[in-house]
Amino acid sequence: MVRNRVQRLLTAINRRMMKLLIALALIAYVASVWGNFVNMSRSIQETGEQKMEKQLEEFIAPLREKIRDLEKSFTQKYPPVKFLSEKDRKRILITGGAGFVGSHLTDKLMMDGHEVTVVDNFFTGRKRNVEHWIGHENFELINHDVVEPLYIEVDQIYHLASPASPPNYMYNPIKTLKTNTIGTLNMLGLAKRVGARLLLASTSEVYGDPEVHPQNEDYWGHVNPIGPRACYDEGKRVAETMCYAYMKQEGVEVRVARIFNTFGPRMHMNDGRVVSNFVLQALQGESLTVSINCMFK
Ligand SMILES: NC(=O)c1ccc[n+]([C@@H]2O[C@H](COP(=O)([O-])OP(=O)(O)OC[C@H]3O[C@@H](n4cnc5c(N)ncnc54)[C@H](O)[C@@H]3O)[C@@H](O)[C@H]2O)c1
Repeated sequence: MVRNRVQRLLTAINRRMMKLLIALALIAYVASVWGNFVNMSRSIQETGEQKMEKQLEEFIAPLREKIRDLEKSFTQKYPPVKFLSEKDRKRILITGGAGFVGSHLTDKLMMDGHEVTVVDNFFTGRKRNVEHWIGHENFELINHDVVEPLYIEVDQIYHLASPASPPNYMYNPIKTLKTNTIGTLNMLGLAKRVGARLLLASTSEVYGDPEVHPQNEDYWGHVNPIGPRACYDEGKRVAETMCYAYMKQEGVEVRVARIFNTFGPRMHMNDGRVVSNFVLQALQGESLTVSINCMFK
């Protein structure tokens, strides 16, 4: 009786063990199949990724080459610039710096190693006159009309902003007057505020229609205040007066340069002054125009 019971118990245990073993074997099988499946999909994914990486690399390589070329051309494009120590390097503002004279002055001061800010409203000036400096760490170009105030920190100001050739300054006489009066006042105010030295680009036109030849600086001129050129001539004369008033009253350091007819590269084709007209006519194989003004008294 006891023996039978023990035997039944053992058979029941064996059956459970068998079930457990079968279940374990099943789990092991499923796990190994799953592992193989994961490995397989991983390797498929890896080869797919490698292929894509290769294709991308082939696509990007010529672009990388182009970028390298561009970087090279960028680093090579600036004219040589001297190194100046912090103490000697000046922060210089050039108004009208995109014009004919201003752009050459920009070149000179940049090559001397200074920090140059060009302010221009591009009335007669062109961006391309200074484009070879765009991007240089010492250079800045601001599109601004000097008739509006400007707030900037500088050590020196070269104030050249003004149309210079008769067709340009007679095109809008009121604007020419504003540029030379309000514009100059703004620049002198700035010079006073930041303690900068200012140079005014004046003109031989302050002598008007002179009765003395050649004109020296003691000569006061012979100017018609209501003539067709008065907006420029009188504009520059009052600009000079303002400079000296700021010097005497406010202690601003000023310089005035009376420039006579200047010509050279970057001058506008339609400038309209005699030397550039001659050069243009000669280049086009035309006769040179000489007009004579005779005054009989
Ligand atoms: N070139 C000469 O023979 C000559 C002779 C005498 C005096 N100047 C003086 O030298 C300076 C430069 O003359 P240039 O021959 O180079 O002339 P330009 O016309 O080539 O240059 C004048 C520059 O001033 C800019 N400008 C004009 N009005 C402005 C304003 N309101 N705000 C900001 N910018 C303005 C123009 O866009 C231009 O870039 C002028 O002041 C001119 O009176 C020149």
